[in-house]
Amino acid sequence: MKLIEALEWRYAVKKMNGTKIPAEKLNQILEATRLAPSAFGLTPYTIIVVEDEETRKKLQPAFYNQSQVVDGSAVIVFAAWNNVTEKEVAEYMQDIAEQRGVAVETLNDFAGYINGSLKNLNADQARIWADKQAYIALGFGLVAAAAEQVDATPMEGFVPDAVDEVLGLKALGLHSTVALTLGYRDAANDYLVNAKKVRRDHKKLVINK
Ligand SMILES: Cc1cc2nc3c(=O)[nH]c(=O)nc-3n(C[C@H](O)[C@H](O)[C@H](O)COP(=O)(O)O)c2cc1C
Repeated sequence: MKLIEALEWRYAVKKMNGTKIPAEKLNQILEATRLAPSAFGLTPYTIIVVEDEETRKKLQPAFYNQSQVVDGSAVIVFAAWNNVTEKEVAEYMQDIAEQRGVAVETLNDFAGYINGSLKNLNADQARIWADKQAYIALGFGLVAAAAEQVDATPMEGFVPDAVDEVLGLKALGLHSTVALTLGYRDAANDYLVNAKKVRRDHKKLVINK
C-alpha cells in the first residue's frame, strides 16, 4: 500500500475488536517511533508499552473510560522526562560516541551547546519542550501503524496524573504526555468506520510564498 493510501485508510478508531497485534508489527511500529527525530537528537521521553490486560483495565478510567484502551491490543504512552539535566546530556554524548565510534571528548562543544540552550528554559518551558518532542514520536507511530495496516487512536483524552499513578511514572521522573492505542477496528460497531475524512482544503491549508 502506498503511503497516501495508507493515510487515507487510517482513522482514529473509536471501537476496536479485541484482536491482538502480531509482535513483529508492534515492533515495527515501535522501531518507527525510535527513529523519530527530536531536538538535538536528545529524545527527552520514554515510551511505555502496555499490553497487559489488567493494567489496561486499570488505565481505562484514567482515559475517561474510552473503550479502545481495553478493546485494543496495546496502549503506548509517550512519557516525557520531567527534567533534562547535564546527566542526560552526558548519557546522550556517550551514545553518540559509542554509536559513531568517536571519542566522547570531541563532543564537549556540542554538549555545552545543548546544556546552554536548556538552561535558558524555565521549568514550564522545559516541560513543554520535552512534550513537543514526544508528539513527533506519536506522529511517526501513527504513520507506521497505517503502513502496517494496524489501527490506531492517538489520545490525549486522559487525566495525566491518574495515568502516571497507574504506571508509576513519577518515580521514573516521567509524566504522560500523549498516548497511542493500537489494535483493530470493530467495523460493525464503529460509527466512524465509513465516515469521510474531513481535512482543510490544500488551498486553505498551504500558502505558497
Ligand atoms: C493529539 C491527539 C489527541 C487525540 N485524542 C483523542 C482521544 O483521546 N480519543 C479519541 O477517540 N480520539 C482522539 N484523537 C483523534 C482525533 O479526533 C482525530 O485524529 C481527528 O478527528 C482526525 O480524524 P482522523 O484521525 O480519524 O482522520 C486525537 C488526535 C490527536 C492528534
